[in-house]
Amino acid sequence: MRAPVLAANWKLNHGPTEAAAFLRAFCGRYAPRDDRTVMFFPSALAFAAAREAAAGRADLRFGVQNVAAHDRGAFTGENSAAIARDAGATCVLVGHSERRHVFGETDAETAEKCALAAAHELDPVLCVGEKLDERERGETERVVLRQLRAGIRRLTAQQRARLVIAYEPVWAIGTGRNATPADAAAVHAVVRAELRAEGVPDAVPILYGGSVKPDNAPALLAADGVDGLLVGGASLDVESWLAVVGAR
Ligand code: PGA
Repeated sequence: MRAPVLAANWKLNHGPTEAAAFLRAFCGRYAPRDDRTVMFFPSALAFAAAREAAAGRADLRFGVQNVAAHDRGAFTGENSAAIARDAGATCVLVGHSERRHVFGETDAETAEKCALAAAHELDPVLCVGEKLDERERGETERVVLRQLRAGIRRLTAQQRARLVIAYEPVWAIGTGRNATPADAAAVHAVVRAELRAEGVPDAVPILYGGSVKPDNAPALLAADGVDGLLVGGASLDVESWLAVVGAR
């Protein structure tokens, strides 16, 4: 069994002051455990404060929520994988559904971001997931596999071994309507089979995300093939995040 990965996606919440206070409180109550990995994805501007507040906690991983599909140049407002790495990030969310569907990010851009992240030694947390209309049309598998193949295509075997995959059905994100453990298990099996076909080692975890809360986290984590959770809303509050992280 893989050690579960619990990842907090703070989205556009928690500035430096709140992020630092959160990490101080969290670190005071969560002792390092070798049977799970905890990751934080603060806003880029809160990243340094969050990391500093957790100084000495090598068990916690810090990443950014996005990077540019460019290495450098005239791209006002963007952050590159190289800059994120220099700032201390070790991982990055790529292809989150809000990037895809709110900001119009394409599979090609996601592929470029994965490649740049991997080239700069940032482990990509590649997010995939279908929209409600796609699920209703029976297209879940097709959409998820298309996004997955595009995201990993340009990675070397060594880079693929550093991946984390997150299955996040778009209809479940921030809606309070989580996928059932059986729904998640079905898609995770499809993703795992594709990863194997692509030569990606079984050690690469597949997380579930979408309306994870302290009360549904244990059942989702216990679902077949679910190796961890990517959590938005329930990661914003120290109490509820401690409860999610302590699940299983
Ligand atoms: P949610 O968000 O937990 O608030 O549904 C999950 C995500 O978008 O990663």
